[in-house]
This record gives sequence, structure tokens and C-alpha cells, in this order.
Amino acid sequence: MGDPSRDAKVIGPDPVRARALYRAHASGYDASARRTMRLRRRVISLLDLQPGQTVLDVACGTGLSFAWLREGVGESGRVIGVELSPDMLRLARARCERESWRNVTLIESDMGAVEIPARLDAILFNFAHDVIQSPTALARIFAAARPGATVAVAGMKYPPWWLAPLNPWVRARARPYMTTFAGLEAPWRPLLEFLERFERQSIHFTTGYVGHGRVKRG
Ligand SMILES: C[S@@+](CC[C@H](N)C(=O)[O-])C[C@H]1O[C@@H](n2cnc3c(N)ncnc32)[C@H](O)[C@@H]1O
Repeated sequence: MGDPSRDAKVIGPDPVRARALYRAHASGYDASARRTMRLRRRVISLLDLQPGQTVLDVACGTGLSFAWLREGVGESGRVIGVELSPDMLRLARARCERESWRNVTLIESDMGAVEIPARLDAILFNFAHDVIQSPTALARIFAAARPGATVAVAGMKYPPWWLAPLNPWVRARARPYMTTFAGLEAPWRPLLEFLERFERQSIHFTTGYVGHGRVKRG
């Protein structure tokens, strides 16, 4: 039998615990995310952003994706970042002020309760596992998306069953960044209800994934 305190985390995402987790992480987050920048760039390129579009950065953290998202939508476009943790969002806000970015809208909210203030042309889920596993959050996000909007996603996952001995390693790496291990076998699965033409690849020796698709048209 597994450790019951760990198994409890399979129940579902816990925004209260996430806030506490990221209070501890916020100051070191950018340094720890440095090694993920190449992947971040790749995922953002899958959004195929066009000038003038509005893109949602789901659980935007400290805003490490903003520069590339802005590059895609241009000055006439808009980036909306929603983030639960006030500590992470403070750093995102400081980044926007430092860079004098005027077309980034920041919202401090649980994604499951947010009012998204625009119609979305593109949606980025970069390492947003807790949000993807929340049906309420997904309903809110996709209600604001236009049919055909582009969606890109990346995150951690369990390897296939024959590499299951790696699962404790995946959990150890994931534990600081997510409050639930639910869905780690196929973390993108809750998105499929909303998407068409979804394509996915395994990365990081099958312990990660990157995918993209379009919001269903009717
Ligand atoms: C691993 S970090 C990724 C941050 C950012 N997407 C990036 O690529 O750097 C996960 C983020 O999800 C946020 N988060 C977790 N649950 C959330 C929720 N329900 N609503 C909004 N943000 C949430 C956390 O506060 C944290 O900033």
C-alpha cells in the first residue's frame, strides 16, 4: 500500500495549498525555471500567435512567458495573465512595470472563479497541471474562447507503465509545483472535451509532454 498522505493528493487540486506552496517558491521561481525556457519558447510557438490577438496565460506565475506572448500578439494585441498566488503575481506585475508593458492585464484569481474580460484567440497552459485537472476552471476558460482559438500545453506526466519505477521520481519533482497527482497518466485528457485536432508528443524521456490543438467549432 502507498503512503496515504501522498495518495490523498490524488483527490484533486487544492487552491489553498497552492497559494501556500507558491508563497514559499515565488522568490526562487525564475531561477528554478531557467532550464525550462527552451521548452517554454517551443510551446508558445505552437500557439501560432498573430498581431492583434488576445492570449490567455493560464496560471501565469511570475510572467516568464509574457515577453514571447507579447512578441506574438504585438502592441495591438493583448496578454491576459491569471494567477492564484499573490506572491507570484507580485513578481509578474513588477516585470510588467520594469518593461513598461501596457498590454498585459494581470488578474489575481483562482482560475475556477475568474471572470475573463475578453474573447480569447489563444490559450497557453504552461505547467498548469492543477488548473487542467479542475473542471470548473476549464469551463471558465473555454467559455471565453472563440471557436478555433489555438491552445498549447506542456507539463509533467508519468511515463508509460513499463517505466512505472520512475513514478516516484516524477512525483518528487512535481510535488513542489502541484497539489494533485490526479491525472498524471495523461494530464492533457480533460482538455480533449474542448479541443479538436489535438496533437501531442512525449518529451523528457516520457516524463513530460507538449501538445497543441484548436478549440472546437460548434
Ligand atoms: C508550475 S507554476 C507555472 C507558472 C507559469 N505558467 C510558468 O510557466 O512559469 C504553476 C502556477 O499555477 C498557479 N496556480 C495553481 N492553481 C491555480 C489556480 N487554481 N488558478 C490560478 N493559478 C493557479 C500557481 O500559483 C503557480 O504560479
